[in-house]
Amino acid sequence: ARITLRQLLDHAAENDYGLPAYNINNMEQGLAIMEAAEAVNAPVIIQASRGARSYANDIVLAKLIDALAELYPHIPVCMHQDHGNGPATCATAIQYGFTSVMMDGSLKEDAKTPADYDYNVDVTRRVVEMAHSCGVSVEGELGVLGSLETGMGEAEDGHGFEGVLDHAALLTDPDQAVDFVSRTKVDALAIAMGTSHGAYKFSRKPDGEVLAMHVIEEIHRRLPDTHLVMHGSSSVPQDLQDIINEYGGQMPQTWGVPVEEIQRGIKHGVRKINIDTDNRMAMTGAIRKVLAEKPGEFDPRAYLKPAKEAMRKLCAERFQQFGCEGQA
Ligand code: G3H
Ligand code: 13P
Ligand code: NA
Ligand code: ZN
Repeated sequence: ARITLRQLLDHAAENDYGLPAYNINNMEQGLAIMEAAEAVNAPVIIQASRGARSYANDIVLAKLIDALAELYPHIPVCMHQDHGNGPATCATAIQYGFTSVMMDGSLKEDAKTPADYDYNVDVTRRVVEMAHSCGVSVEGELGVLGSLETGMGEAEDGHGFEGVLDHAALLTDPDQAVDFVSRTKVDALAIAMGTSHGAYKFSRKPDGEVLAMHVIEEIHRRLPDTHLVMHGSSSVPQDLQDIINEYGGQMPQTWGVPVEEIQRGIKHGVRKINIDTDNRMAMTGAIRKVLAEKPGEFDPRAYLKPAKEAMRKLCAERFQQFGCEGQA
């Protein structure tokens, strides 16, 4: 059944767990998420980026989500717009049946220029008014995602900004967070604390210098009733890097967000954890393995099925690690 983000995260807060939000672009990813949720009896957040909506087509995507929800009627499913860049993107998501939208006002509508605070408050507040009148939840974002190692902020397409941002812009300010939540009335708040999208987050296992979990703890102290969201939360597991490289890939060594840091966040108000890269890597590793071992193979099902299985395994693991098991 369909459910809003607010309903899911309220339940997660009451029961001390966090929910992974998995990105979707196609049928295999949708089936992988639902099969994993079914196996561990977890509620589901599926999210689609603007890129996903144009890749899969809005109509195809909307009907795919309908099909997934119909297939597993007892699993609560929230369909969320990831990184909406303006009111129009959020409004069309609602028209296609999304039960939650992210208004990412940390960047301007071009999704690649850091926005000022007043713009962020204004555009987010307007989206909240519109979405709430439709019974849809809203996630806002305060602070620009990017690397504390390099000072590079990050545009939605994953490319760094031209200029280096100062440390403060890359860390959500707790005082500002209090003001932002009271003025916008968002249902969930994404914060910046050193994570970035994609596989190349850290050049070594992150410590408190580059992954500022203390910012989460401080914000949670000030806003105990606000659901916090961690973006860029793939762990970039070593075994997935190894599989990809063993079968012809060329990914330079890299580090993601350790699962134990996310678990620490869940103890301090983190309720939604965005994961895309890990699933991309799980699928790609499985596909590379099939194609390397069976170079004569040309039926897409021969590699898409193992790809789906690999993603299902990863999704189930994160559901368990974040405490979602049995919460559906
Ligand atoms: O926001 C980042 C997500 O991983 C979605 O990425 O914009 O390439 O679909 P995308
Ligand atoms: P990853 O690239 O770490 O998986 O982050 C995904 C994300 O934050 C989507 O909004
Ligand atoms: Na999002
Ligand atoms: Zn994100």
